Amino acid sequence: MTAHLTHLRQQPNPGGATSATPDLIVPGARHVPRDFVLGAATAAYQIEGARHEDGRTDSIWDTFSHTPGAVVDGDTGDVACDHYHRYADDVDLMRSLGLQSYRFSTSWARVCPDGGPVNAAGLDFYERLVDSLIEAGIAPWLTLYHWDLPQALEDRGGWTARETTDRFVDYALAVHDRLGDRVRTWTTLNEPWCSAFLGYTAGMHAPGRTSPADGLAAAHHLMLGHGKVVQALRDRDTSLELGLTLNFTVADPVDPTDSRDVDAARRIDAQMNRIFLDPIFRGAYPADLLEDVRDLGLEDHIMDGDLQVIATPIDVLGVNYYNGEAIGHEAPAATLDDSVNGGRATRSPFPAADDAHRHPRGLPVTDMDWEIQPEGLTRLLVRLHAEYAGPAGVALHVTENGAAFNDVPDDSGFVADRDRTAYVRAHLGAILDAVDQGVPVRGYFYWSLLDNFEWAWGYAKRFGIVRVDYDTQVRTPKASALDLARVIVTRQLPPPDSDLEPLGAPHHRPPDPSGDLPT
Ligand code: FCB
Repeated sequence: MTAHLTHLRQQPNPGGATSATPDLIVPGARHVPRDFVLGAATAAYQIEGARHEDGRTDSIWDTFSHTPGAVVDGDTGDVACDHYHRYADDVDLMRSLGLQSYRFSTSWARVCPDGGPVNAAGLDFYERLVDSLIEAGIAPWLTLYHWDLPQALEDRGGWTARETTDRFVDYALAVHDRLGDRVRTWTTLNEPWCSAFLGYTAGMHAPGRTSPADGLAAAHHLMLGHGKVVQALRDRDTSLELGLTLNFTVADPVDPTDSRDVDAARRIDAQMNRIFLDPIFRGAYPADLLEDVRDLGLEDHIMDGDLQVIATPIDVLGVNYYNGEAIGHEAPAATLDDSVNGGRATRSPFPAADDAHRHPRGLPVTDMDWEIQPEGLTRLLVRLHAEYAGPAGVALHVTENGAAFNDVPDDSGFVADRDRTAYVRAHLGAILDAVDQGVPVRGYFYWSLLDNFEWAWGYAKRFGIVRVDYDTQVRTPKASALDLARVIVTRQLPPPDSDLEPLGAPHHRPPDPSGDLPT
């Protein structure tokens, strides 16, 4: 990178991208459209720390992470990446990498402690952050809810209680009051499947409940809250770009000729993908899903008019993709083990899919034991566009994709992460394949900018393109960060395994506060 970037002529442009004359020709590289936005994502609880500072009170993740056995090694987000105090340096770092957009979330418990009245000091922090991003030419992409419900609201029923949807609107409007003139893209929820089913059914995430019925109630109320917030923000300002982020799987039957495997894959698709897509884009729950969960009380929570609210038109759909899966009706001999619990009772997140089992396919896996399957992303985007987003005129953005690997830093803290670099290139290539098939995908956010608090895994899993030394809080861009920076400047995507500087060569420099790319 260092050698290559020196002969790129760079001029900042208003979108935050660096326009350059790419005289670097990478053999076999694919062209990345100039209007395809490249950035990185984080979430409040995973990076901010400052647990009780400036009026913030506990969220369900504070409670959960302080519960013995809930998080690996007893890790908590009390300090995390200390981003609350280091946000300015982190924005400088993003600028030095040339990131065009930054996806972050606001903390409900910081803005409305205990889910109650507005805390101006909490909003001050997000205002400082957004102003720094704009000043750096980086477009802010704001997520209102990335899993951190104020604990006081959980004590009143959490997402199983309908009232929480109204408190969500209060909170969203408070954030909009402060930032509505500066932030264009607002997404309500990140991955409601995880909030509802990892949190209320599997017991693996906060608040740690293990009830299929509670998971379904939570899923409905999360979507109702989403719809109410979209309506409220749209009433305020029709120019905002509104939407949400869902996490998807691509469920393939192990044996497509075996009707039992086909039905098992159908259940997973219904209980992970279509349970959200159909209400949002079609104003109805899928009939087969309602049949699968008919004894679990979902329909008791659906009041007249709810589905119309949930189906309020959106502008953007955020797509989070890590991998798909092969699903069979019988348990496999060997399993992929990405479940985590420190001894607490957990169960399957799927409310009604006991006869659906994930089978390893012999694909390479990440440090999470997640299979690496870029072609699944192409198929997912093609399907989402054809069946949901396209007919609704909704733009697609990949809002998360990334890999944890067992990074080994050198003496200077640099990580030559060829595996992550190849992963990012392969997934960007999979997106370009979908674009070639006519799917309008507008951008890509790598998960994550920083190594951070990976929920129930604590600090044991590193997803960042920037290494964080948790003892010193020093940030060091990994080779994958420098590679992404090069793609942003050159708009050329090298083949996954091509060996370009600085892969394997620790020629990195600390970020230059001037905002120039490393030279
Ligand atoms: C997603 C979450 C994100 C991060 C990645 C690895 O499900 O949205 O916070 O944990 O997984």
